[in-house]
Amino acid sequence: MAATRGGLFISFEGADGAGKSSQIARLADALRSSGKTVCVTREPGGSIGAETIRKLLVEGAAERWSPMSEALMMYAARIDHLERTIRPALARGEIVITDRFADSTMAYQGIAGALGEDFVARLHALVVGADNPDLTIILDAPIEVGLARAGRRASAENRFESKGAGYQEKVRQAFLKIARDNPQRCVVIDATPAEEVVFEAVAAAVKKASLSHQ
Ligand code: TYD
Repeated sequence: MAATRGGLFISFEGADGAGKSSQIARLADALRSSGKTVCVTREPGGSIGAETIRKLLVEGAAERWSPMSEALMMYAARIDHLERTIRPALARGEIVITDRFADSTMAYQGIAGALGEDFVARLHALVVGADNPDLTIILDAPIEVGLARAGRRASAENRFESKGAGYQEKVRQAFLKIARDNPQRCVVIDATPAEEVVFEAVAAAVKKASLSHQ
């Protein structure tokens, strides 16, 4: 259960290319139009220090870091992001929408990266504690769809995408397992249909979470 605070904390998760950024942009627009103050952020990153760590993580060869180094850097970035961006925004009563959070470390480094669920769960408990999202939206699509979308983006930030289809399929399955294990905060949404169709499901999930958060 999330720690006591004013705002609403929403994370978006999914394998690469699931369409998180377009859904986040639509959601932020819709919430701002209805008069809400929204803080859109991302991981790895979301604060000055965490963005510096992000560059180390997302650039370079796939084997540049071991799963252990990756996980520790993700958490170094995450605690800076929490302390400097997320917690202050929630304390001001804002809606925080983050493109990825701790479930990504569990999926990529813990389950797909073979570091193990237990290690990541213990690291999470030590570093983050109870500051979990109120709602986690997992955008799910077959990996061919995700990789085709991600491949269209020209970017130096392709270290994770370059790990290949087998790894991406493990990541997809890992997110589905995380959703089964955390049904109180996770909603899985089929990300294959057109953007506006996916958004209807996203908006419904957010409405439900904000009603139960009041
Ligand atoms: P991101 O920029 O969100 O990529 P995408 O737009 O493809 O979703 O994240 C960069 C990569 O970092 C992405 O492939 C997932 C990976 N990642 C982890 O492996 N562990 C983590 O804890 C996080 C936050 C991201």
